[in-house]
Amino acid sequence: MLENNCLSYWYPKVAGLVPTPETLIIRTQLNLEEFVEHYNRKDELLATDFYGKLLRACNRIGYPVFLKTGHFSGKHNWHNTCYLETSDDLLKHVLKITEMSMCTGFGLPTNVWAVRDVLPVTRYFVAEQYGNLPISKEVRAFIRDGEVQCMHPYWPSEVIKQGMTVISSTFDAVYESLCEINENDKKQIDSILASIGPVFKGYWSVDMLKSANGKWYLIDMAAGDLSFHWESCEYKKDIRLLSDAYSFS
Ligand SMILES: Nc1ncnc2c1ncn2[C@@H]1O[C@H](COP(=O)(O)OP(=O)(O)O)[C@@H](O)[C@H]1O
Ligand SMILES: [Mg+2]
Repeated sequence: MLENNCLSYWYPKVAGLVPTPETLIIRTQLNLEEFVEHYNRKDELLATDFYGKLLRACNRIGYPVFLKTGHFSGKHNWHNTCYLETSDDLLKHVLKITEMSMCTGFGLPTNVWAVRDVLPVTRYFVAEQYGNLPISKEVRAFIRDGEVQCMHPYWPSEVIKQGMTVISSTFDAVYESLCEINENDKKQIDSILASIGPVFKGYWSVDMLKSANGKWYLIDMAAGDLSFHWESCEYKKDIRLLSDAYSFS
């Protein structure tokens, strides 16, 4: 189950089928955690085949790039993790994402990395406390055996507020427009979900983002049981125990 959560599993199935950011995948057997624990060994990391491949991938995509592992971006520390503006900062970002992956739950794998196009977005808010993370229009759908079960705005308002230093009096109105889905949005979202439905068995979350030019992209997928789900949703209670979700049977 956990390896299905990895971008290297789901991305090849959706690339070419629906709009996605251009993505290059790099694999490594290196134990990156060692380099977080022993920063004085950074020159060793810089000399690895993995680092060279990552650097070439970033150059090929063109800066800024979106950097993440197959499982995790560290988005709550945007400018120090997934949003990479120059090759000078690559090492720092790799180590920060690795460090945060080590601290997340039971520790997330760092053997798969993805370098992606940064999609231009309309910023509704900027969360300064999350490293200036731009908050843009995104939705999360849950599909079960290809059928759409429910769909939610991606960002709960409390999470955005926690990331901001000042909450302006217009917050609620802006949040409302962040969550608004017009007919054209709906058409594109439905079309993405209809295209990928036949390809995925089981329970999945599907995250989609609206770019500044109005086009929607599929940006992330994960096992439905392991994905954040709005408390108020009637389908949330469908979620199996996490221990079941992690069984490899
Ligand atoms: N290619 C991209 N261009 C611009 N913003 C992106 C891109 N990919 C992701 N994001 C933003 O970063 C957030 C985290 O990305 P995601 O790939 O879902 O990482 P995670 O798996 O850690 O949630 C998304 O919710 C979105 O706001
Ligand atoms: Mg995500």
